[in-house]
Amino acid sequence: METERLIWFKEEIIPVSQAKINVLAPTSQFGVNVFEGIRCYWNEEKEQLYAFKLTEHINRLINSAKIMDFDLKYDFNFLKNSFLDIVRANNFKEDITVRQTLFLDGFGSWSSKGPLEMFIAPIPKGRPYDKIGIDCCVSSFERINDNSLSPRVKVGANYMNSRLGHLEAVKNGYDTAIFLNNQKKVSEGPGSCIFIIRDEKLITPPVTASILESITRQNIIDIAKSDLNIDVVERDIDRTELYICDEAFLCGTAMEITSVLTIDRYAVGNKSKGKLTEQLREFYFKMVRGKLKNYDQFLTPIY
Ligand SMILES: Cc1ncc(COP(=O)(O)O)c(C=O)c1O
Repeated sequence: METERLIWFKEEIIPVSQAKINVLAPTSQFGVNVFEGIRCYWNEEKEQLYAFKLTEHINRLINSAKIMDFDLKYDFNFLKNSFLDIVRANNFKEDITVRQTLFLDGFGSWSSKGPLEMFIAPIPKGRPYDKIGIDCCVSSFERINDNSLSPRVKVGANYMNSRLGHLEAVKNGYDTAIFLNNQKKVSEGPGSCIFIIRDEKLITPPVTASILESITRQNIIDIAKSDLNIDVVERDIDRTELYICDEAFLCGTAMEITSVLTIDRYAVGNKSKGKLTEQLREFYFKMVRGKLKNYDQFLTPIY
């Protein structure tokens, strides 16, 4: 049962229903927390659960805590071992997502630096969209930027910008939104990065375009270049390029690789799964599930 699932909470392993947070804590009041969403993939043949790119996620968590000036009392190994402990404790034999969150507890304010606490919650999770692709719009909301609330930081409060963009899109009949940044160039989705394909080239905004430094984005760039021989260009993307691209997809730990079929009701390619997107998707799913040789270094076996 969901409430009996085990959670790592303040250095103890307890049922999730017993994990309680003070309503006046900075995390509850102001979203003062940094977090990661980390997927683990079950490989039926090997009877093994693999965490994908765990090192990269833990490093980004540490960087987020550093930018937010938290008194981080945990080192890399502690953060990683606690993750492994709680996933093992639940004995999952299925795909899961794990939320690992460093949060400010106590009675402080938005400017407090501690006391810092952590929870790590594994959650069985499917795909956000159960269809061949999604319909997006360009948001009327602007993406947050590095001089206000940096999208490079995975801090809870950033997701209020994501919320506004996504909910507006859904109200208007789309699946989700694509944000422009304060330079009016394409940045990212509310919880994912974007790639377009033009003339067989993969194009994605640079890490300075008001985006999260996405682990999946980097992974796709690496696969495309070194395994699939696809050219990759990291450059600014104009809004109208979205209307004439051959393929487009959103990517991220949760989104994985999700085809975009229309943008602002303009058809992307022929409104179906694109050829290069499918090639990348196929490779990606084999890789994360431990079905490709030579990619073991990205996978952390849980059992
Ligand atoms: C705003 C935003 N951009 C991009 C991503 C994709 O990042 P990653 O590939 O590291 O999951 C996410 C998801 O975590 C996100 O929340």
